[in-house]
Amino acid sequence: MDNTERHAHELDAAYPSPARSQFMQLPAAGGAYPLAAYFAGNSLGLQPVTTATAVNEVLGAWSQRGVHGHFTGEHPWMYYHEYVNEALGRVVGAKPEEVSVMNTLTVNLHLMLASFYRPTAQRHKIVIEDYAFPSDSYAVRSHARLRGYDPDEAIMRLRPRAGENVLRTEDVIEVIEQQGASIATMMLGGVNYLTGEWMDMAAITAAARKAQIFVGWDLAHAAGNVPLSLHDWDVDFAAWCTYKYLNSGPGAIAAAFVHERHLADRDIQRLEGWYGNRAETRFGMNPIIDTPSTAEAWVLSTSPTLAIAPIRASLEIFDSVGMPALRQRSLQLTDYLISLLDELATRAPLEIVTPREAARRGSQLSIRINTDVAEFAKRMDENWGVIPDDRKPNIIRMAPIPLYTSFHDCWRGADAVARELHG
Ligand SMILES: Cc1ncc(COP(=O)(O)O)c(C=O)c1O
Repeated sequence: MDNTERHAHELDAAYPSPARSQFMQLPAAGGAYPLAAYFAGNSLGLQPVTTATAVNEVLGAWSQRGVHGHFTGEHPWMYYHEYVNEALGRVVGAKPEEVSVMNTLTVNLHLMLASFYRPTAQRHKIVIEDYAFPSDSYAVRSHARLRGYDPDEAIMRLRPRAGENVLRTEDVIEVIEQQGASIATMMLGGVNYLTGEWMDMAAITAAARKAQIFVGWDLAHAAGNVPLSLHDWDVDFAAWCTYKYLNSGPGAIAAAFVHERHLADRDIQRLEGWYGNRAETRFGMNPIIDTPSTAEAWVLSTSPTLAIAPIRASLEIFDSVGMPALRQRSLQLTDYLISLLDELATRAPLEIVTPREAARRGSQLSIRINTDVAEFAKRMDENWGVIPDDRKPNIIRMAPIPLYTSFHDCWRGADAVARELHG
């Protein structure tokens, strides 16, 4: 393994980034280079250069057309959320009618649980990972309470085996096979926010479906990161935000997936609002909803046009690169960063907790360093212009983003870790 800076430049010359020039690069806070090496795209993706144009197009239409913008112009706002369905479907492996952008992620998790948590006395448990993102824990606990169950009893948290960092697929499947009759719903992170573990979504979904459990995925860290086939895997529901790998800006609009199987079910439990009424009859102002057989039936409110414009810009980049090429680049970059960190680990107290197997990880590498990780991340930024992020208690997350991270960024990232650890 050639760990020199020269070799990093050679790799960049041999395998150029597919879309780096299409993203705004940040200035470096410190170190020898003018631009930051950005590894926090798993938290907030960089801004595409076309985002401002997309947002300005909406602002321009508003300034010129006022209320008529809802129905006229090149992109009438009334349908604005529908414009992204095809491209979004390609990113997550769904039919356009199975996805919709709406709300924010936690809200969408609630909307999905309203439909896909249907507890009965015998079958009322919800399964999540023990280290699920806090919002997911709060969401499932509140649904258990809402339906009259004790969350401490109703929520089942899956833990890795003693001494291990991540869940094993066979252990998850064993829980389903042995306790499935008591489980109503499973809601797991596709890629775990803390460990970077990519669950075997196909195998777990198949086992859960066989046990008649509704199975949903929080794809905050998976959408735009790893190839997904939500439709073919037969997933019941999913929800994800677009500010991470989907580069749509802080607090950007989220999305949800509902499998085609459920779309024609008129009696499904669901929280409803007027944008969940078919567009053709929405302005009929009827008291009884007329829902479409699409995921749009879960949309509640007026299309938040300004919030959707950034994701339109971002999805154009995903379409131009394509998920297969993106995945290939992601593996090249992470393999390279892993080998640089492995060399370091022989001399320094760090451990990569993300699974090494390609099929079990996306772009994010979670590195355990037993130090004050917030302080460590700050020093990487201020001293070397390298931006990772950190999660308590002891994880530094570094995600080389296939659309814009370079091999030289990875070299700088590993070099900054080394310098901070060795002093
Ligand atoms: C895995 C996961 N789930 C849920 C959330 C909450 O998202 P939001 O604040 O958009 O509701 C996050 C936020 O980072 C997350 O990483």
